[in-house]
Amino acid sequence: MSLLIKNARILDPEGKCSGDLDIRIDDGTIAEIGSGLSGDEVIDAAGLTVCPGLVDIHVHFREPGQESKEDIASGSRAAARGGFTTVVTMANTQPRIDNAGMVEFVNRRARETGCIRIRPAACATKGMLGEELTEMAELKELGVVAVTDDGQDIASSAVMRRVLEYAAMVDLPYMAHCEDEALAKGGAMNEGFTATRLGIPGIPKAAEEIRIDRNIRLAEVADAHIHIQHVTTAGGIEIVRQAKKRGAKVTCEVCPHHFALTDAAVETFNSNAKMNPPLREQHDIEGIIEGIQDGTVDCISTDHAPHTPTEKGVEFEFAPFGILGLETALALTITELVKPGHITLERAIQLLTTEAARICKFDCGTLRVGGPADLTIFDPAEEWTVSDDSFASKSRNSPFIGTTLTGRVRHTICGGEIVYTA
Ligand code: DOR
Ligand code: ZN
Repeated sequence: MSLLIKNARILDPEGKCSGDLDIRIDDGTIAEIGSGLSGDEVIDAAGLTVCPGLVDIHVHFREPGQESKEDIASGSRAAARGGFTTVVTMANTQPRIDNAGMVEFVNRRARETGCIRIRPAACATKGMLGEELTEMAELKELGVVAVTDDGQDIASSAVMRRVLEYAAMVDLPYMAHCEDEALAKGGAMNEGFTATRLGIPGIPKAAEEIRIDRNIRLAEVADAHIHIQHVTTAGGIEIVRQAKKRGAKVTCEVCPHHFALTDAAVETFNSNAKMNPPLREQHDIEGIIEGIQDGTVDCISTDHAPHTPTEKGVEFEFAPFGILGLETALALTITELVKPGHITLERAIQLLTTEAARICKFDCGTLRVGGPADLTIFDPAEEWTVSDDSFASKSRNSPFIGTTLTGRVRHTICGGEIVYTA
C-alpha cells in the first residue's frame, strides 16, 4: 500500500524542493516527489502546505508516575494533533528517568503506546538532586538524546561543571533550565508592575539571566554543548547572543507562550497562565522576536507541561507551574510571528523542524526521497478557535482556550502512517 499526497504546496526548510507537487510514500519512506504521481491511498492536499513533521525537543509526558496529567499515549496523540512527529521527553517524571531501567521503560512504552517518535532525555544528576552524576555513557547507548535536570537548575556550580564535562565527553547536549532557585523562591509570576498590583510574589528576570550566563560560562570551561531552554527575557537573549559571538557552543529555544503573552495574562488570576519561567513583559517579547530574526534563537519548543484541572483549579499561588503547548504551537507561531511579518512561514517551519532536529542531531526535519515519511499537512490561513473539548492531551491547562488562531494542522504522517486527521 502506498500513500499519495496530491497537489501539495511543498515547504522544505532545506529548500530542496518547493512548489505544488505530489509525494508518494512507500514502506514508511518518501519514495518519490514529482508531478502526476499515483498511489493506492490518496490525500488531496490542494490548497494545503506540506512540511517535514514538526520536532519538539521539550515536552513533559508524565509517564511514569503522573498519568492523570498525561501519559506517553495521550502525549503522543497531542503531539500528532499539533503536527509533531518527533519529541524529546523530559526526565522529571516520578520516578525520575535517571538510570538504564527507566530509559528502557520509556522506550518500551513509546514503542507500545506512542504514535510518533519519542526520544528520551535523561537526568544529568541522580534523582535530579544536583549532587551525583548519572551514567550518561550507558544512557546514551540506550537512546538518550540529551541530559537535563529540567524543571530545575543545578544549584552547585561545581556539580554543573562536572555535568557539562561528562556530557561533552559522551557528546550529549545539556539542556539547561536556568533559574537561581534562591532568588526565584516563593515567586509565582514575573516580578513587576502586575505582580505588585495583584499582590502575587514575583520571580525576577535576574533569576533566569544570572543562570543563563553562569551555565554558558561553565559550558565554555567544559567545551560542552549547552542548550538553553525556554528563554523568556530580552536580557537572556542578549546573553546568548554575546556568548555565540564569543564562540560558545550554545543553542537556545523559546516557547510560543513567551512571545504570545505578557504577564498581563495573569490579571484574571488564571492559573493556566502560570508557568516557569513565567510570562514576562512587552519589551521581552520584542527581545525574543529580535533573537528569532537574527538567529540568536535556534528553535521553538513547547515545554508542553500538562497538569489536571483539579491541580490547576486552586489559588494562583498554589497552582503548579506549566501549560499545554503541543496542540497550539504551530498556530501560535503563525499567528504571532508570521502573520505580523516578523518572519516568513519558511523560517517558522525551520525553527520547528530542521533547526530543532539539528540541536539533537536527529535525522529528520527535512523532506527528501529516501528519508523517513514524517510529514505535516496544514492550512497556514485557516482560522480556528482553541476549545477545551478538543485537546488530545489528558489535561486542559492552556491559556489560549477561547482564542482564535491562524494556521491549522490537517494531517500528520509519521513513518508513513496517518497519525492524525482533523
Ligand atoms: O512550567 C513548568 N512546568 N516549568 C518547568 O520547568 C517544569 C514544568 C513541569 O514539569 O510541569
Ligand atoms: Zn520543561
